[in-house]
Amino acid sequence: MRQKLVVGNWKMHGSLAANQMLLAGIQAGVAGLTGVECAVCVPYPYLAQAQQQLSCSAVAWGAQNLSEQAQGAFTGEIGVAMLADFASRYVIVGHSERRALYGESDALVAQKFLRARSGGVSPILCVGETLEQRQAGQVREVIAGQLNAVLSAAGIAGFAGAVVAYEPVWAIGTGLTATPEQAQEVHGAIRGLLVELDASVAAGVRVLYGGSVKAGNAAELFAMPDIDGALVGGASLVAEEFVAICRAAAL
Ligand code: PGA
Repeated sequence: MRQKLVVGNWKMHGSLAANQMLLAGIQAGVAGLTGVECAVCVPYPYLAQAQQQLSCSAVAWGAQNLSEQAQGAFTGEIGVAMLADFASRYVIVGHSERRALYGESDALVAQKFLRARSGGVSPILCVGETLEQRQAGQVREVIAGQLNAVLSAAGIAGFAGAVVAYEPVWAIGTGLTATPEQAQEVHGAIRGLLVELDASVAAGVRVLYGGSVKAGNAAELFAMPDIDGALVGGASLVAEEFVAICRAAAL
């Protein structure tokens, strides 16, 4: 059985003082939970703080982006070895904000996915359609295109133990959540696409849902057979909310 995974995506939020309180609250709140893995993806400058504060806890940490390059003259970029230096377990790859605001293409996202894997940091690959694409009936086609770009670079073997996050763009930060049935339909399609290539790899891939997940809607989402956890933005900045979501995923 796949262990549920709940990941906080802090985006560009935080300060040393605020993080200290938030991490302490999360750490205390999730202590002793079983059947769920909890993680926070923090802004780069706070990786050291996350490592220092969470090392002796059950909460993992990671980053929200990385360079597709290994190292070199790439001013302002952050390499996977640097993330690994701070014992990052996860890195978000291809978040819709990066695709839309920073022009990340499917091909670049695939390179980042490969780079994370080769550096020993688990990528959380984000896919999702816009409202226009949903209204045009293109959900499956869009998701398949985003997944296939990574599959053709990494192969199905590159998805062994991987994490995919389905984040409908129209549900991110809007308060609109996909219904559990809408989400399950896409999660099932994602797994179906992987099953066609390798059923046992597909069975091990955790598919998280993201988009306005809150304490109040988490349990019904987690009850769906192909929803293996959540990628949480806004609600991950409030310890009690994030802890409640982790609890909803626990056994
Ligand atoms: P949200 O963000 O939970 O604030 O909608 C989710 C995300 O962007 O990962």
